[in-house]
Amino acid sequence: MKAFILGVLITIVALIGGGLFVAETGRVDMRADVPPPQFERHIAGGAMDASADRNAPKVTNPLPPTSDNLIAGAKVYLDHCALCHGDPVRPHSPLEESFYPRPPQFMSDAADMGDQDNYYITQHGIRWSGMPAWKDVLSDQDIWEVVTFIGHMNNLPLDVKAVFALQGAPPAAVPTKKPTKNR
Ligand code: HEC
Repeated sequence: MKAFILGVLITIVALIGGGLFVAETGRVDMRADVPPPQFERHIAGGAMDASADRNAPKVTNPLPPTSDNLIAGAKVYLDHCALCHGDPVRPHSPLEESFYPRPPQFMSDAADMGDQDNYYITQHGIRWSGMPAWKDVLSDQDIWEVVTFIGHMNNLPLDVKAVFALQGAPPAAVPTKKPTKNR
């Protein structure tokens, strides 16, 4: 029995030591522009959803999804989020494949978590990803507006859709995607 326990302990230490060796000697690929493997996406994505579910404050969205609130949210979105998450002009952000993990493209893959999770994620960002924490840049009002907006991107009223489409991409330096990739 003693030998068995010792064997288990040695195996655990060897696994941890091996992992640290691999990581600390530059053997982990740290490039952002390679596709994350399926298993890693599955585990990390699950951990992120579970963390938001567990830690997001149990608050209800104070804003009803009126056209005014959705239009205000669309403006926040175009100014701060479209660059990575896409907009009517570029439904797939030219930066989509420049992140690891990839930012979801909300024009085709709407944010499907509840408002309180989206509020929490927008406030605090996502560790080890390109998703910034916005709480020091946007007011609480702005954050609720954009959360209301991304929660309704699939079924926007026509007047909001028109404003969103018209305003298009922010004039910021968003490069158009290169037609061919020269990796
Ligand atoms: C610089 C790029 C960038 C910007 C700008 C950005 N995001 Fe993100 N966002 C990301 C990335 C990358 C992820 C994916 C992180 C992950 O999967 O762990 C993400 C994930 C999210 C998620 C989680 C979605 C889901 O269903 O998994 C939400 C919600 C979100 N972003 C909202 C916003 C909002 C709102 C804004 C604007 C205020 C914004 N993001 C601006 C890069 C960005």
